[in-house]
Amino acid sequence: MHSLYPYPCDMKPIPLILDCDPGHDDALAMILAAHNPSLQLLGITTVSGNGGIAKVTLNARRVATLAGINVPIAEGAGKAILGAIEEAHDIHGESALDGAELPQPKIELSTLHAVDLIAKLLAEHPEPVTLVATGPLTNIALFLKMYPQLKAQISEIVFMGGSASRGNRTPYAEFNIWMDPEAADVVLRSGLPLTMCGLDVTHQALVTKPIFAQLEEMQSELSKTIIGLLKFFAKTYDEVFEMPDPPLHDPVAIALLIDRSVVKSRFVNVQVELSGPLTRGATVVDIYNRLGEEANCNVALDLDFNKFWTLMLDAIRAAATTK
Ligand code: BDR
Ligand code: CA
Repeated sequence: MHSLYPYPCDMKPIPLILDCDPGHDDALAMILAAHNPSLQLLGITTVSGNGGIAKVTLNARRVATLAGINVPIAEGAGKAILGAIEEAHDIHGESALDGAELPQPKIELSTLHAVDLIAKLLAEHPEPVTLVATGPLTNIALFLKMYPQLKAQISEIVFMGGSASRGNRTPYAEFNIWMDPEAADVVLRSGLPLTMCGLDVTHQALVTKPIFAQLEEMQSELSKTIIGLLKFFAKTYDEVFEMPDPPLHDPVAIALLIDRSVVKSRFVNVQVELSGPLTRGATVVDIYNRLGEEANCNVALDLDFNKFWTLMLDAIRAAATTK
């Protein structure tokens, strides 16, 4: 699975903002978003999820420093819309990014709140921008409520979250949606073009032994750090989910922007369960349109494993040579 360069260079790069909660897979999503020539990363915003807001913001700045990512970074919501707060120590460790020593951040934190940085970047950009969310949807929902006049500047919202089958935080709720179901509800009802990248597809993006072997071959400081992070992630995934090859969820939401054929999707109706005592936070994905509701979301269901990993590994190679 060696590089498939060149990527189409006659097309303009897709402008995007990444809202994330790093997090092991978020860190890799940052690298892919910043180091693929088909994308133009405008900014990174953080949201509490895998760790509290201070931790994930520090992690985002450290990963940006490590991987030569030089874009504005702004801190966002520290709690869900209804005030809930939780950390995913069982999967991502105490720091939310355990497993390797990361550099002290050299990238300054923006003085703007994440929601205001998103507004500024959208207002300033000459074309509509894609928002990619790889954490709870709190910042995105707040943005839609606070800046409705900028909706037309969003070309699409792609989010990692939900599932057409079972969950991972509860039997039916996936972690990002579970953390802030009300925010997911605002996004799903927004009327904007939406793509959901849920567990159905991200559980196919496994960090297998041959993928680890390709990372070992790179022998860069960056690849060594990533191996440390992913070994930690593999250990917790094995302990909690009996999955020795961990799924690299978040970069799938970036990869599909670069090449739509990385996933196979269906355009269907998706709603989020807000009240079920056992099912709160579940995404109800109506594949066969049994409810007769209008389709509102493109749902990625299948992954082209080789295409995905070619993009991801190329980005890690490119990042390692950036100063
Ligand atoms: C999602 O939850 C987080 O732990 C990961 O970073 C990913 O965004 C997977 O359910
Ligand atoms: Ca995440």
